[in-house]
Amino acid sequence: MKRKHEDGLQELRKRAGELVASASLENGTVKDSYKKLIAEFLEAGGPPDDVIVKIGQQFFGCPVAKANQGPLQAMHVEGAKRLDFDYLEKFMVDCFLAAGCPEKESKISASVLIEADKRGIDSHGIGRLKTIYLDRIKNGILKPYAPIEIVKETATTAMVDANMGMGLYVGPYCMELAIAKAKKSGLGFVACRNSTHYGIAGYYTSMACEKGCVGFAGTNARPSIAPTFGVEPCMGTNPLCFGIPTDEPFPFVIDCATSICQRGKVEKYARLGLPTPKGMVIDKNGEERTDTEGILKGMVKGECALCPIGGVGDELGGYKGYSWSVVVELLSIAFQNGDFGEKLTGVDAQGKPAPMSLGHFFLAIDVEAICDLEVFKKKSGDFLRWVRSTGKDPNGPGRIWTAGEAENDFRQKRMSEGGVMVPPALLKEMTMLREDLPAIKEKYPKFCFE
Ligand SMILES: NC(=O)c1ccc[n+]([C@@H]2O[C@H](COP(=O)([O-])OP(=O)(O)OC[C@H]3O[C@@H](n4cnc5c(N)ncnc54)[C@H](O)[C@@H]3O)[C@@H](O)[C@H]2O)c1
Repeated sequence: MKRKHEDGLQELRKRAGELVASASLENGTVKDSYKKLIAEFLEAGGPPDDVIVKIGQQFFGCPVAKANQGPLQAMHVEGAKRLDFDYLEKFMVDCFLAAGCPEKESKISASVLIEADKRGIDSHGIGRLKTIYLDRIKNGILKPYAPIEIVKETATTAMVDANMGMGLYVGPYCMELAIAKAKKSGLGFVACRNSTHYGIAGYYTSMACEKGCVGFAGTNARPSIAPTFGVEPCMGTNPLCFGIPTDEPFPFVIDCATSICQRGKVEKYARLGLPTPKGMVIDKNGEERTDTEGILKGMVKGECALCPIGGVGDELGGYKGYSWSVVVELLSIAFQNGDFGEKLTGVDAQGKPAPMSLGHFFLAIDVEAICDLEVFKKKSGDFLRWVRSTGKDPNGPGRIWTAGEAENDFRQKRMSEGGVMVPPALLKEMTMLREDLPAIKEKYPKFCFE
């Protein structure tokens, strides 16, 4: 395998030599070909200080594209196994059932999680099954089943009480309700109280887009983000997510936390044994930390906090991300008379697991109530296509993405590959779940990767 890889790089080096031999130095076409060749070489895993890159710089003045830029970088992990999506989804359904969730709730919850894996949001799929859901059910701070109640309702609004049941099930319920109201009255807004972790916010805005609506969704979470000029975790990673229909095969969906990185990404760095990039985390002494394991422990104790989008201080506009995070926190607690701060840490004063009552909000705007949906979609698509066609940064990966595109690319790639690479740490979690849950032991005496 290694031999084949080296042969590939050697072939690219040979092509580089031929290009140099055939080139007049002013020849722009050759420069472009050479630039492409460097990009191909780096993408194939060639080292950035290789002679092929140096020749490009010296003969053609090619900028050195930084390797590994762009949202499509799935990290190779030694010992990872590709697991089929249907197999993984069924495993998740079986785990929820074994933990006491009813069938419908189990299926819907698993479908939200597997969608994260399909979209390449590895921090929020199978990676969360044990720690965020099943461990919490086991610790009694998340109810495997709780009735959903609509406590107040108008034609366009509703307040839903999740009664500490599965956020992964309540989330789709609330967005469906918002969409139904939008289809009748133009708009639907649903606030949800007493809920639990609902996974990827983009799942909900995508639901709205599929029905020809603009979607907006957010949730608060365990306090993790420090305010500008502060060091204590005050706001959750609080995703603020919009979905806008387009005429492309996928909607525009901006689905991200209001911190530079969210907690799940730090957990992902831990699973991969990597340091956390500098600038994402600050500790109580104001130090920017990179030691991933230390950060995770520090976050549990409230001694480390994530930095808001824009980073530490106000030089790069950290106060913007900080305030967007506050917007999400306010919309998640003010309608709901919900908890914030230390009541959402997930542990009590003795350090024992304690329930975290979260709030979510969902808005659907029916485009047809305002204008022609096809015209709207075409205009959105035209704008996004135009943006992607504009000039590229010569030091970048040579491509511009618009939000939602990377997830769509991941989805197509992973669906064609038939599954997702599951790292050894998660394979181990699956075996731990088998030990924990007798029904799983019975159904999976041997996993497909064993
Ligand atoms: N439920 C919760 O409590 C909670 C809290 C925080 C985050 N989350 C979820 O975690 C997931 C990941 O969040 P994140 O902050 O790590 O996201 P991220 O930083 O990976 O950003 C993802 C978003 O940015 C877009 N994007 C990425 N690269 C781009 C580029 N070059 N150009 C244009 N757009 C680009 C993607 O299409 C996507 O919309 C989200 O699904 C979010 O909803 C959930």
